[in-house]
Amino acid sequence: MKPARKPVIAIDGTFASGKGSLAKKLAAYFGYAYLDTGKLYRALALRALEAQADLGGGPSLAKLAVLIRPGELANPKLKSGAVGAAASKVAVHNEVRAALKAYQVNFAHNPPKNVSGAVLDGRDIGTVICPQAEVKLYIDAKPQIRAERRYKELLSYGEDISLAQVLADLVERDRRDQNRAAAPLKPAVNAHLLDTTNLSIDAAFEQAKTLIMALLKPI
Ligand code: C5P
Repeated sequence: MKPARKPVIAIDGTFASGKGSLAKKLAAYFGYAYLDTGKLYRALALRALEAQADLGGGPSLAKLAVLIRPGELANPKLKSGAVGAAASKVAVHNEVRAALKAYQVNFAHNPPKNVSGAVLDGRDIGTVICPQAEVKLYIDAKPQIRAERRYKELLSYGEDISLAQVLADLVERDRRDQNRAAAPLKPAVNAHLLDTTNLSIDAAFEQAKTLIMALLKPI
């Protein structure tokens, strides 16, 4: 008899929608492995910026992408606004997405330390990376609220930026992520939508947890 597949929770959504915090809390609660797939694109962006590579060159960026090692994903430099903006530029290339796909698919289906499931968050997890995921969530919130959250975060990293600039950057990032030809950000057809505009992280977690427990319940 084929062993049962380990469940995958796919969480997609807009920038600063709270999907990362939610994904982390869910992974801890269910005892699953967690992968923030944005870190892969950020790690590539950092490599490209440091090498002064052309962010418009898909094939050469893909060669850099295959060199990324898991240890790099913890680099605090990945959190900066400049690296995030560059990440959304390198992410438009099909070649880059293809080069980063195997790592994500493998993580989802063979989570590290042999734990019993995986949570991945990103932009195309439910649509491209794990279309068969047992649970798909799509997280969004009003741009003004997301900008305020991100502004506070950037201030805590010591970045010198205005709220108006954060909002403008965020709108630009949404536009690029949602309108690119390669794996554009959109809810998977069977995704459950969660709007966190008026929800704390704890409230969003409670709603998601209840939904996931119902979906993963043995029939
Ligand atoms: O989520 P985060 O802000 O770290 O992602 C940075 C950028 O990486 C996003 O704006 C998006 O363009 C890209 N990305 C992606 N697909 C993913 C994760 C991130 O295209 N699965």
